[in-house]
Amino acid sequence: MLELRQVCKTLPGVPPRVLFDRLSLRVEAGECVAIVGESGVGKSTLLNCIAGLEPIDAGEIRVGPSRIDPLDDDAMARLRRSHFGFVFQAFHILPHLNLLQNVALPLWLLDEAEGVAASRARTMLERVGLGTRAEDPPQQLSGGELQRVAIARALVHRPHLVLADEPTGNLDPGRATEVLDLLLGQIRDNRAAGVLVTHSRTAAALADRVLELRADGLHDITARP
Ligand SMILES: Nc1ncnc2c1ncn2[C@@H]1O[C@H](COP(=O)(O)OP(=O)(O)OP(=O)(O)O)[C@@H](O)[C@H]1O
Ligand SMILES: [Mg+2]
Repeated sequence: MLELRQVCKTLPGVPPRVLFDRLSLRVEAGECVAIVGESGVGKSTLLNCIAGLEPIDAGEIRVGPSRIDPLDDDAMARLRRSHFGFVFQAFHILPHLNLLQNVALPLWLLDEAEGVAASRARTMLERVGLGTRAEDPPQQLSGGELQRVAIARALVHRPHLVLADEPTGNLDPGRATEVLDLLLGQIRDNRAAGVLVTHSRTAAALADRVLELRADGLHDITARP
């Protein structure tokens, strides 16, 4: 479903820094992989490369049967809009839209009918525990609440690929588990592939596999019972 083959990326600088050297990863449909690793090792950059927001220097990235790394910006943007859900480390909630409008945005961009978009966005807000706040502006929300809006927005169009960067970093443990259950449940139900970057071992343990990104690549550290 998602496959990285021998992906290389070097950051410019003096001297240049090799971030990924022939990195490979495969995530099946309906599977969620957690990626952990030290700060600065390249987890967010990896998600950005998968999403086509940053170029790779060599290798291949495939979603389903198709290579996506050679796509131009317009084609990549269209693919992201229809098939990807991204929860950013900084939430990117739009300040001039209320919560319902923020969550409905991916559906508007796909030309979904207004009534359908609003009702699906409302359902997603209810699922993340913010149903009563739909008409509120984001300025009134706490960090954890904004995070939940970002998650609702990332899932509302039932994407085939979910990329989540620290989606529970601002949540208390109870809420974090609840939101992760929602995220993982949607990934499994939609047969999507999920890549979840997290510093939390508890969050990672809920995923199907745990991979640690180190300077020398990805290592499977899934705790086997
Ligand atoms: N566009 C860029 N140009 C130069 N260096 C960059 C660029 N983007 C990221 N970096 C560097 O790449 C490294 C990896 O950054 P990245 O944000 O991917 O780390 P991370 O693993 O997500 O860390 P954290 O856990 O703190 O979020 C860092 O050293 C960062 O400074
Ligand atoms: Mg990061």
